[in-house]
Amino acid sequence: MERSTWEGLKGKLGGRFLAGPLRRGLERWLLGDPWPCLEREVAACPGAVTAVDLGVGSGYFALRVAARLPQGRVLGVDLSSEMLRQAAARARRRGLAERLTLTRSSVTKTGLPSGAADLVYSNNVLHELSDPGGLWAEAHRLLRPGGRVLVSDFQTNALTRLAPPLRGAHGAGPYGAAQLREQATAAGFQEVAVRSVGRWAVVTGVKAAGPA
Ligand SMILES: C[S@@+](CC[C@H](N)C(=O)[O-])C[C@H]1O[C@@H](n2cnc3c(N)ncnc32)[C@H](O)[C@@H]1O
Repeated sequence: MERSTWEGLKGKLGGRFLAGPLRRGLERWLLGDPWPCLEREVAACPGAVTAVDLGVGSGYFALRVAARLPQGRVLGVDLSSEMLRQAAARARRRGLAERLTLTRSSVTKTGLPSGAADLVYSNNVLHELSDPGGLWAEAHRLLRPGGRVLVSDFQTNALTRLAPPLRGAHGAGPYGAAQLREQATAAGFQEVAVRSVGRWAVVTGVKAAGPA
């Protein structure tokens, strides 16, 4: 299996930062906060929802989503065992462990069943991948017809171009709005929309409903 760059010290410190108050402050005041967009997608899915978090990290969004799904569940996948360890510990502390299932796998090949998810989302992961199309294709495979996708990631700008570490070890991103729209459309998503939220691009789309 591939290895995550978020292991060892980077995983330990990164996982704490990504789930901690400093990140929340940075996103709110400097970078912009993609959470309200994801919260809207969660609210649009009624009942016993199955959501998949591709690149769940230390659980920052997965726990917020799980808290809003009393009858549902979140399936979180990540390559980093350190991130998964931190996510599991946070879920236990918040009493959400039963709603969060964590799997160590690649976001491009999760091993989860096809067509079982109502919502697939991924935050701050796409730019780290050598093959972004693989994430979009996996999201499409995982969703039931009519299911919804949300992918948020850094937008390309002068800063991200000058900061190779932001790209991760193999990352081909970050991408501009036109590229993100093209990726989502190429994977088969419909009703694709790309919104700017501070420094983030938030892409939403729908998997076509099957024949009635
Ligand atoms: C910047 S962190 C974001 C974590 C989380 N989504 C968040 O917003 O807090 C990126 C995460 O993507 C994971 N990741 C990167 N490439 C991956 C891949 N190919 N498959 C699974 N996880 C991957 C890393 O291990 C890391 O946990």
